[in-house]
Amino acid sequence: MCGIVGYTGAGHAAHILLDGLERLEYRGYDSAGICVSDGEKSHMLKALRVKGRLQALRDATDNGDSVDGESGIGHTRWATHGEPTVENAHPHLSGGGKVAVVHNGIIENYADLRKTLEGRGYVFQSETDTETIAHLLDYYDKGDPIDAIVRTVMHLRGSFALGILFADRPGEVYGIRRDSPLIAATSESGNFIASDVPAILEWTRNVTYLDNMEIVCLKKDGISFYNMDGEKIEKEFTTVSWDIAAAEKGGYAHFMLKEIHEQPKAMADTIHPHVRDGRIVLDELGMTDEEIRAVRRIQMVACGSAWHVCMTAKYVMEQLAGIPVDVDLASEFRYRNPVLEEGTLLMVVSQSGETADSLAALRYGKAQGMLSLAIVNVVGSSIAREADRVFYTAAGPEIAVATTKAYSTQLAACDMLAIHFASVKGKLSEEEYHTLVDALLKLPEQISEILRGEARMQWLAGKYANTRDAFFIGRGLDYASVLEGALKLKEISYIHAEAYAAGELKHGTISLIEKGSMVLAVATQSELLEKEVSNIVEVHARGATLLALTFEGNYNMEDQADFTIYIPKTEDVLYPSLVVIPLQLLAYYVSLSRGIDVDKPRNLAKSVTVE
Ligand code: F6R
Repeated sequence: MCGIVGYTGAGHAAHILLDGLERLEYRGYDSAGICVSDGEKSHMLKALRVKGRLQALRDATDNGDSVDGESGIGHTRWATHGEPTVENAHPHLSGGGKVAVVHNGIIENYADLRKTLEGRGYVFQSETDTETIAHLLDYYDKGDPIDAIVRTVMHLRGSFALGILFADRPGEVYGIRRDSPLIAATSESGNFIASDVPAILEWTRNVTYLDNMEIVCLKKDGISFYNMDGEKIEKEFTTVSWDIAAAEKGGYAHFMLKEIHEQPKAMADTIHPHVRDGRIVLDELGMTDEEIRAVRRIQMVACGSAWHVCMTAKYVMEQLAGIPVDVDLASEFRYRNPVLEEGTLLMVVSQSGETADSLAALRYGKAQGMLSLAIVNVVGSSIAREADRVFYTAAGPEIAVATTKAYSTQLAACDMLAIHFASVKGKLSEEEYHTLVDALLKLPEQISEILRGEARMQWLAGKYANTRDAFFIGRGLDYASVLEGALKLKEISYIHAEAYAAGELKHGTISLIEKGSMVLAVATQSELLEKEVSNIVEVHARGATLLALTFEGNYNMEDQADFTIYIPKTEDVLYPSLVVIPLQLLAYYVSLSRGIDVDKPRNLAKSVTVE
């Protein structure tokens, strides 16, 4: 949802900005731009903007060679206000070119601000909300940049992370944030601001996370921070554990394929630190057994795939721990005036930790007095900082727009919580407990085993790449899994795909099934197998091509299906972690066969920081 980067130092700014933007392109890729100050030479800001991918900006600047300067800001855009055109691309400059701004977020009152600024004689060049910020900064700039920034942001409603250059302050880059992420980083060759850690990993791992309404000023020889009273504040820097290799493709054709293959390690890294002597230990979470015993209900909120994780967790938590779980889409939760009983634990699941709807839902729940627990992948992200308790997944940076390894690790986190809660609540015998923990520990190797059969999924994908409609069906936990399977396929292959609880088809949707429709049925839940087979027979009889996904040994499925995919056996509640792997591979290879840019499907962006 737009990536911003800023740099000042001894290096060639344009090169550094372009490299940084390349690692943020997952956040938006419909236009891009940089603005560089040429230092003391002319006190001029030079901006270059293009429509389309970052490569177009590289082409327009001779890979950055043609833009001289040692400080600058850059932006890769996911359009909100105004179409993706050159005029709407960032950076935006104030009338006389005195100020340049890059922005991630949305200014809700931009129309009013625009009217006021036009009344003061400012002429707008774009349809964006961001241009109002450039003009406001210009209006308030009386020689003290911190004061100009403070006065400007006091007029802004909505969310923003800003990178700012003032033409008369060469070598300096400013930043501020509210509800959109911004980090600052320092290295021997210069200082940085960026939307996310991967942008700066090539140069440094020494970062600090800005809090809301903190201002950062980068100079070539140092970084300083200010509060809204213009007073200097101290910030602590930490060393991020991700290294540059984690943010590169490492020989894979796409980030998505690399991230699919990283799942055994990501799962092991998420599970192993929490299992000691065969027991799940969640000390880091800081939730006491007493707190867990007091949980009478769980309210889960998330968006997209993370919401599918919640749908899965509902089945697992209810089945194992006997705690009722409600699941809401984060964008719906706070607008439906939910009835929140005392003793309800709010659980928010988010890879980025910055998803605007999930963050807003967390704030809403906290304001109602709920204890909150977040499952987050990005350390220092807004949701991680604002939740009362945090369970960090160890997926490492996820770059492909379609989530894979973050999804798997979120499932693992929920499984561990469910087993642990069930144990604290006395719902599991020692034997049941150890059977589940042993099965959990086996998941990484079982995922590797499924990945070794990748070629079969590639072949299958080639065969069905021209399907127009795909239906994914399953019962119980398999229903939760097919929600994710259908989303994976549609978001990166553009094939119309729907997920249904298998028993629900005959209540309407079965009328869509005709000869050649592709139906993928997931059947892993032992108690529901017979019922699901009946549903499979129903669609097969209506001419659908049937692909079945089931566990090894369930060979009866071959009597009904045109093609059967097998996964290793595990405990019923853990199947979602294995089921999702072939579904991810299927989506990846179908997308590849259709010639789609797998990592950057149309209209999407990775971190959705607008509501
Ligand atoms: C789909 C996908 C999205 C995200 C959703 C939530 O492949 O990645 O549906 O799951 O946007 O994002 P996070 O987890 O960052 O809150």
